[in-house]
Amino acid sequence: MCGIVGVLGQHEAAPILVEALKRLEYRGYDSAGIATVNGGALDRRRAVGKLVNLSDLLVHQPLAGKSGIGHTRWATHGEPNERNAHPHQASHVAVVHNGIVENFKDLREELTAKGLSFESETDTETVAKMAQYYLDQGLSPRDAAEQTVARLEGAFALAFLFQGEDDLMVVARKGSPLAIGHGDGEMFVGSDAIALAPLTHKITYLDEGDFAVLTRNSVEIRDAKGQLANREMRTIQLDTTQVDKGGYKHFMAKEIAEQPMVLERTVASYLNDGAIALPRNAEGAAIDFTQIDRLTIVACGTAYYAGAVAKYWFEQIAQIPVEIDVASEFRYREPPVSPRTAALFVSQSGETADTLAALRYMTPRADCILSVVNVPESSIARESDFVFPIHAGPEIGVASTKAFTCQLTVLLAMVLEAARQRGTLDDATLAHHVETLTTLPGMMSRTLNIGTASEKISAKLAEARDILFLGRGPLFPLAMEGALKLKEISYIHAEGYASGELKHGPIALVDKQVPVIVMAPRDGLFDKTVSNMQEVMARGGKIVLVSDAVGLAEAGDGVWKRVEMPACDDLIAPILYAIPAQMLAYHTACAKGTDVDQPRNLAKSVTVE
Ligand code: AGP
Repeated sequence: MCGIVGVLGQHEAAPILVEALKRLEYRGYDSAGIATVNGGALDRRRAVGKLVNLSDLLVHQPLAGKSGIGHTRWATHGEPNERNAHPHQASHVAVVHNGIVENFKDLREELTAKGLSFESETDTETVAKMAQYYLDQGLSPRDAAEQTVARLEGAFALAFLFQGEDDLMVVARKGSPLAIGHGDGEMFVGSDAIALAPLTHKITYLDEGDFAVLTRNSVEIRDAKGQLANREMRTIQLDTTQVDKGGYKHFMAKEIAEQPMVLERTVASYLNDGAIALPRNAEGAAIDFTQIDRLTIVACGTAYYAGAVAKYWFEQIAQIPVEIDVASEFRYREPPVSPRTAALFVSQSGETADTLAALRYMTPRADCILSVVNVPESSIARESDFVFPIHAGPEIGVASTKAFTCQLTVLLAMVLEAARQRGTLDDATLAHHVETLTTLPGMMSRTLNIGTASEKISAKLAEARDILFLGRGPLFPLAMEGALKLKEISYIHAEGYASGELKHGPIALVDKQVPVIVMAPRDGLFDKTVSNMQEVMARGGKIVLVSDAVGLAEAGDGVWKRVEMPACDDLIAPILYAIPAQMLAYHTACAKGTDVDQPRNLAKSVTVE
């Protein structure tokens, strides 16, 4: 996902912009650039590849000026190269953009017919040229930007800078987040609070459709109807230590290791005096699960797998029927929505375009909209009736780790509260489950001890071309999550299957070259999984069994590799077994030397469809 930063400052803008862009690197990008106004002159520098290339360019071709905008680009229109990198500039205006302008081809044709020419393949250049057109028609910079934004369709966060205006920046938000940072005689703009953390803690998040005119000492915000709007200025407690590696080789390693501490905070935030306490809505009302006959869960990627685990829990423990789908498919199949249906959206960033679009499909159809997010100020949270924060702290590694286990923890807390309200659990069982939830951080701590075993196995996994993950029950989504983790950071092809499904075709993949990783605590389904493992071993497949001591002992000697997990209550097994999934992927990627925190082609949050 692209990243936007901007500054109207008291000091040279270039170093501030580059440092802020570094804090947005985690979003994934393939080129970067900045533009400044210096003594009225507007100029830019852009570079393809990592930010270090832009920094090197600025050493040889410095860019002066105390007002500037910057951008990290994750290519949507046009390949990753300098020509397509942002900022895009017409003679008197520079623009940075996050999102997609869906009608850019029509606008480009209109401007070409008016005699304007283009150098890039991007939608963003059309925005700059449209603003220039309005400037040439005699409009003020502010009005030129406003007229331009009014012509755009699609999703965008934009920042405009103008020749001759070193105390003016115009920004707009529609579908992609944008925050304003208030300094002392300075003003900042960023795609999120992480970018602005060292500069200011006073943050104003723009609402959908907002248009804002900034100077060093003023912010004028107008809403989608053009009316003056007051947006809350929040103090964001986000210090820079939360966005650095803390001595770890990768953010992913840090975020795997900090899960016990993070889960401690998450569990504590959902308990009050030994009972589950869920956040209330804006009106102070508690969610009433007795009014819900059906739950629709929608998410993407790892968040989808968290929802898939929750389906087992909601149905088996709270006896609420659950439909689940990936967001990119959900609304296009136009599912009928029956009365007393709640829609639950799971999203770490809260900005995933597919998930947000699915939420908007359900808003007029569902009885209430619930979201489980890591960013309470995010678009998905702001459009939900009930928001369930996961308190994971900033997750910088593109591969989701602590957010996944925190999502599962929050979803489990919701399930237990639903069970209490609906009377589907006796008091003793409910109390036992709540107690089990409180043991989670300690169990997670113990589970992290499998690191050495995982590392040794991963050295072998790194040689494989194909790898299968198997699981049954709520460990089936864990098998799919394990496959996703491995794919996205080691680039090895992997698939997750229900253990019982292997014999219906995928077993044709199995030979002695194919490691099969089986996620199987010694639970009620273990015996059936042993049969599936024997089917694999009979064909030369190499079983990596992830289980507790009892399970490993019962599985016998044919197993190729073993990962011993602590014995745990079945209830929290799906959360704990995320650790071996994460560690096997992490160490395999390290063995392969891939970019663990910013894997190729990936963005941390995909804010385009
Ligand atoms: C998971 O490791 C990936 N980064 C990706 O699948 C991610 O989970 C997905 O894009 C959803 O993101 P979200 O949770 O921010 O909505």
